[in-house]
Amino acid sequence: MGSRLIGYGSYLPERIMTNQDFERIMDTSDEWIVQRTGMRERHFARDDETVTDMATVAATRALENAGLTIDDIDLVIVATTTPELDFPSVGVQVLGRLGASSNLPAFDVRGACTGYIYALHCARAFFTAGIHRRIMIIGAEKMTRFIDWSDRSTAVLFGDGAGALIFEHSTSSYSGIIDTVVMADGREFDILHGTPDHHIVMTGPETYRRAVQHMPAAAQYIMEHAGIPAENVDWIIPHQANLRIIQSGAERLGFPLEKILITVDKHANTSGASGVLALAYAFDNDIIKRGQLILYPAFGSGLTWGAALIRV
Ligand code: ACO
Repeated sequence: MGSRLIGYGSYLPERIMTNQDFERIMDTSDEWIVQRTGMRERHFARDDETVTDMATVAATRALENAGLTIDDIDLVIVATTTPELDFPSVGVQVLGRLGASSNLPAFDVRGACTGYIYALHCARAFFTAGIHRRIMIIGAEKMTRFIDWSDRSTAVLFGDGAGALIFEHSTSSYSGIIDTVVMADGREFDILHGTPDHHIVMTGPETYRRAVQHMPAAAQYIMEHAGIPAENVDWIIPHQANLRIIQSGAERLGFPLEKILITVDKHANTSGASGVLALAYAFDNDIIKRGQLILYPAFGSGLTWGAALIRV
């Protein structure tokens, strides 16, 4: 029992915040941000725009792309760390916004920047078990809610947005979500976490060190686990946290940079939305073609990390 990808959609808020915009409000420079992170701009949601708003637009576009309505879906999983409400889940709120009447279930997963890999992992398990036949995965974040404007080392790193993917049950195990692996080490909490008053606490260099270790390891593990050699992988879409982390991971894996999809320059780090937004961007710009094999490694707060192999 497998799956296949039948639709995608994304949403990026209209407002673009450039490095030059940051130069005007804090002690930083375009040169520092580009050199340390590869980021040039990011999208910032309006004050009144919520994760549910963004997730709903991405979901609507994915349904249009698949030629379906929400009642054709039988599970919605939302990866988010920045929901505007503690309850109900963003997933259930999206059902309400879309007018779902078929009582389909929805829930959120909180895996920080690894959230969309956790969502894919759940979806794979449901397909394998034959429990659900059409699953929508949404990655949606309003990271700007967590920005500490007095901390220049984290304020420049994040952006907002949402992406959605729809998978359908398939008898082929070589399409859709082929394999997933997710991991966590709660002992590493101190390195990167949120606070009750919505701030990000991050030890940048420690986060960096763990990311360049765990993302390539997860990528290597999943290729071996799935029995897929590196040369069969068409694209790597790493979690878009930092260009230097991405380049270092590619080097460790021996992957040429031409096979690595980069959106961190345009979107910055959108956490649980990052990989889904990046895939939608690649489709919209004809970079990734249907049928290609994608390797998705990710890493984030928790610490959490993991990888997915997807044939799109
Ligand atoms: N502009 C200018 N200077 C700055 C800025 C800034 N925005 N931010 C920090 N600096 C300064 C620091 O104050 C420091 O100055 P000092 O030497 O005078 O003390 C200097 O730059 C170096 O600071 P470092 O923190 O050592 O810089 P580093 O090279 O490590 O880069 C960065 C910082 C970009 C944050 C890097 O550590 C990194 O990318 N870490 C990983 C972050 C990440 O991947 N997060 C992903 C997970 S997020 C999630 O899961 C929600």
